[in-house]
Amino acid sequence: MANTILVGAQWGDEGKGKIIDVLTEQADVVVRYAGGNNAGHTVWVGGQKYVLHLIPSGILRKDKLCVIGNGVVVDPIGLVNEIHGLSKLKVKVTPKNFVLSETAHVVLPYHRELDAQREVLKGKNKIGTTKRGIGPAYGDKAARVGLRMGDLVDAPRFEEKLARRIKENNEVLKALGAKPLSFKQVLAEYRAAGDFLKPFVANTVVLLHEAMRRGEDMLFEGAQGTFLDLDHGTYPYVTSSNTTAGGACTGSGIPPHRMDRVVGVMKAYTTRVGEGPLPTESAEISDLLHGMGREFGATTGRPRRCGWFDSVATRHATMVNGIDDLAVTNLDGLDTVETIRVCIAYRHGKKRYDFVPNDAETLAQCEPVYAEFEGWSTPTDKCKTWKQLPVKAQKYLKAIAELTGAKLFIASVGPGRDQTIFV
Ligand code: GDP
Ligand code: IMO
Ligand code: MG
Repeated sequence: MANTILVGAQWGDEGKGKIIDVLTEQADVVVRYAGGNNAGHTVWVGGQKYVLHLIPSGILRKDKLCVIGNGVVVDPIGLVNEIHGLSKLKVKVTPKNFVLSETAHVVLPYHRELDAQREVLKGKNKIGTTKRGIGPAYGDKAARVGLRMGDLVDAPRFEEKLARRIKENNEVLKALGAKPLSFKQVLAEYRAAGDFLKPFVANTVVLLHEAMRRGEDMLFEGAQGTFLDLDHGTYPYVTSSNTTAGGACTGSGIPPHRMDRVVGVMKAYTTRVGEGPLPTESAEISDLLHGMGREFGATTGRPRRCGWFDSVATRHATMVNGIDDLAVTNLDGLDTVETIRVCIAYRHGKKRYDFVPNDAETLAQCEPVYAEFEGWSTPTDKCKTWKQLPVKAQKYLKAIAELTGAKLFIASVGPGRDQTIFV
């Protein structure tokens, strides 16, 4: 399989976790490279549901190495809970199958508190963050005042650095009218998590390069989606990391010329959680999917906003990420729709856009130009092969892949491993 980067081609929740779980079968190492526990990757194996936030979705397959790279921001308490939660479901996470970068930044309670306070201050202009402290944690990294996993597992160093950071952040929290944090309490909780995580912490850049020299195949697990990318998304309604393919290099230490392929994951329609423009948003498709009990956020439980497939957006994603192959998920979500719409361009006043305008306000005012496809009105969730798919569904898949400008590789017709059609 060589080295493959997997990214979300839309606004997150495209089904990356499911596709990672499927592709891990052919990989040796799975690497998360960006984001934090704002992510929620849902995987169903043998009727059991698993929701991964920080640990790569490859963990559900035995004898694979899962790595959290330097580009991720780690909430150590959340990570410890995730490990315990998996262990209750009989998934063993040990230093043999899971390694954590010593240069990954640590999310601290003041990051979460600041995240919440800034959202309140923004009022109606809020981003709708997951309140996991992601923005402030990446902010501290860029401002060079962040603490890293290597600091957390070094008791005296952590205590000294934390004392300074809590002092400064408590002043900010007080100024915002929020409660200051107790240094003693944070120290105790974080040190306990640090002791638990210490055996997992390593120099992952060296480890990944060793694996590469042995000829092992690596899968880079993206979090969030192209339009939540800090540079290429609908700023400021984005997350605070580079979720696009370039982030896999900076977030892992594997150089660009050693990457062989980019897989883009996209739903057969569009969803978004949180605020910000979503040109194809439609009450019709939102009501339909929510009525089926689908499209509720894996991290916050919020209902996702839903809309028609937006090929202007996915074509842009192909450009920014260099997507070679496409995995289209949730095809079955459209099984009952009589007439399916696909956005093929935007109109803004007299101007027509064939790409996504950078200005979020302009994008919010864009009207989609739609093409219509006849629905197949047949359940697809039991289809195992391309041939078993209704001809109209085949036509739809081929059309959205062509509009997106990459090769159709996988069609997914249900959350399970076996509901995956290789094209
Ligand atoms: P991720 O964040 O990209 O990993 O995606 P999420 O797990 O947050 O959201 C995707 C949702 O779609 C999850 O509930 C998956 O179980 C589900 N899912 C993925 N592929 C399919 C599919 O082909 N059909 C159906 N019905 N559900 C799917
Ligand atoms: P996965 O990996 C969908 C969204 C939030 C908010 C914005 C900023 O499961 O696809 P943040 O907490 O990151 O500062 O929030 O980004 N968001 C996601 N939306 N899927 C995700 O992850 C997301 N992670 C963040 O809803 O709009
Ligand atoms: Mg998700």
